[in-house]
Amino acid sequence: MSNYQYILVERDERVGIVTLNRPRELNALNFQLVSELADALAAFDGDDEIRCIVLTGAGEKAFAAGADIKEMSDKSPIQMMLGGFESWGRIRRISKPMIAAVGGYALGGGCELAMHCDMIVASENARFGQPEINLGIIPGAGGTQRLARTFGKYRTMEMVLTGANFTAQEMFDHGLVNRVVPKGEHLNEAVKLAKTVAAQAPLAVRLAKDAVLAAFETTLEQGLANERKNFFLLFSTEDMHEGMKAFIEKRKADFQGR
Ligand code: CAA
Repeated sequence: MSNYQYILVERDERVGIVTLNRPRELNALNFQLVSELADALAAFDGDDEIRCIVLTGAGEKAFAAGADIKEMSDKSPIQMMLGGFESWGRIRRISKPMIAAVGGYALGGGCELAMHCDMIVASENARFGQPEINLGIIPGAGGTQRLARTFGKYRTMEMVLTGANFTAQEMFDHGLVNRVVPKGEHLNEAVKLAKTVAAQAPLAVRLAKDAVLAAFETTLEQGLANERKNFFLLFSTEDMHEGMKAFIEKRKADFQGR
């Protein structure tokens, strides 16, 4: 299905799985990897057979230990700008739900990538952090913004200003991780969760994701208007009729994504 060098792509029923595959470098995110990732996610986004996407890292040690420091170390600002940071924008615009399955380190761009996802399942050994400050830079793929919106100002400041790591349990306690599972179980659990989402009506799932994300980007007034528009729009779908009919007939709905 693919000619990717740094990622693996597979499918499990209606779930698309993308694995960051540079385990020797702790899945460090070089420009090509992020570009391949954006391509693979876009391909799943446009694939009617796929209803939910899981993103994980190869090996036991890391989801991703951040942007590739060796690649970045001699870059100019313009080279950084042209080097592929627009791929992050493409990842952000994926309309299907994405679940991060995190085992080991999710640092820097790795933590930011997990936060691009809509849910995060983490092994108990997962460690999250934004250590960019140790390199004389700051997070560049949304870390300051996404952390501040979920983690709050004070913990975000600690994370970003000290470079300290947080455990999976700490992230769970503060609402940034959905599930903490025994070591090595993160992918299984994430796929299980993804299959639950994949069984729902795809158009409702898509518009639900759109509605929730609007809460991070608009005023309450605009977010409520967007939610209402999406809510009304779903009354034009066959799946809405199927879902309500199935409820009344006391059977399981068979959603077709129409
Ligand atoms: N970039 C490039 N290579 C990396 C890397 C990274 N982010 N993280 C790890 N590696 C490489 C190491 O250089 C090492 O390679 P060699 O064997 O060739 O030396 C290999 O992966 C294994 O790593 P370690 O030997 O360091 O493993 P460890 O268990 O001793 O430490 C670690 C693990 C604490 C995660 C440590 O590797 C580390 O601190 N990594 C860097 C984390 C970091 O600073 N991330 C932020 C990057 S900047 C960023 O992400 C910007 C942004 O916002 C987009």
